[in-house]
Amino acid sequence: MKKPKHYRKLFDRWWLPKIYDLWVWIAVLGKTDNLRKNILEFVPQNPAILIDLATGTAENALYIKKRFPQAQVLASDLSEGMITVAKKKAAKQKINIEFSLQDATHTSYESHLADAVTISFALHDLPGPKRKEVMKEAYRILKPNGVFIIYDYHLPKNWLVRIPLIIQFLLVENIDAWRMLKENLKEQLKEAGFTQPQRRGAGFTQTKQTTHYRGLAQVVAGIK
Ligand SMILES: C[S@@+](CC[C@H](N)C(=O)[O-])C[C@H]1O[C@@H](n2cnc3c(N)ncnc32)[C@H](O)[C@@H]1O
Repeated sequence: MKKPKHYRKLFDRWWLPKIYDLWVWIAVLGKTDNLRKNILEFVPQNPAILIDLATGTAENALYIKKRFPQAQVLASDLSEGMITVAKKKAAKQKINIEFSLQDATHTSYESHLADAVTISFALHDLPGPKRKEVMKEAYRILKPNGVFIIYDYHLPKNWLVRIPLIIQFLLVENIDAWRMLKENLKEQLKEAGFTQPQRRGAGFTQTKQTTHYRGLAQVVAGIK
């Protein structure tokens, strides 16, 4: 699949999907379930359809499917390698998830389809304007009252706590990730549904933010 210009070449490296889960496991000291559970409070009750954008190796998608087995889970990513690993993991665990190769900024999902859309640790990989496109796309594919849940890095107030984040960023992140740390995603969500300036108020409502890992990560959610 042809990749957009903004797509990081790192995700097309053959070795990345193979080591990605191990990398995350090390980063959270083996507590991957704890990492994933932070989004749960925002998932609406009895969801019928959940979409995980930029799913990577599907850790998030698998976690939510196990928590909401009655729900149909759709998961997509732009990396063939990540999706291949994700499919293998789902098959091994006998978990039914519908995977596809898609750009999170413009998907082929129908409008007003999902009860919740999630994107975890991927928004920071996109440039600012593309991040806003993802928010608009999530708005489009959500049902009215559906919830968009973003899980990503956050800049802690404490300088000492920033050290692991700075190390991680120097090792694997690019300038877009540094920029995202300074942005207010909660405020951006309020504008995500805008098509024109005069339609202010058409974005996500009841936006909320929780922080985790001493402020190193944030979950930001809003209702369509
Ligand atoms: C750091 S990984 C996060 C994976 C997963 N969501 C998780 O929580 O572990 C970032 C993922 O975003 C995907 N990605 C980046 N830009 C994308 C885009 N425009 N559309 C779809 N996926 C994208 C990459 O291919 C990669 O799999």
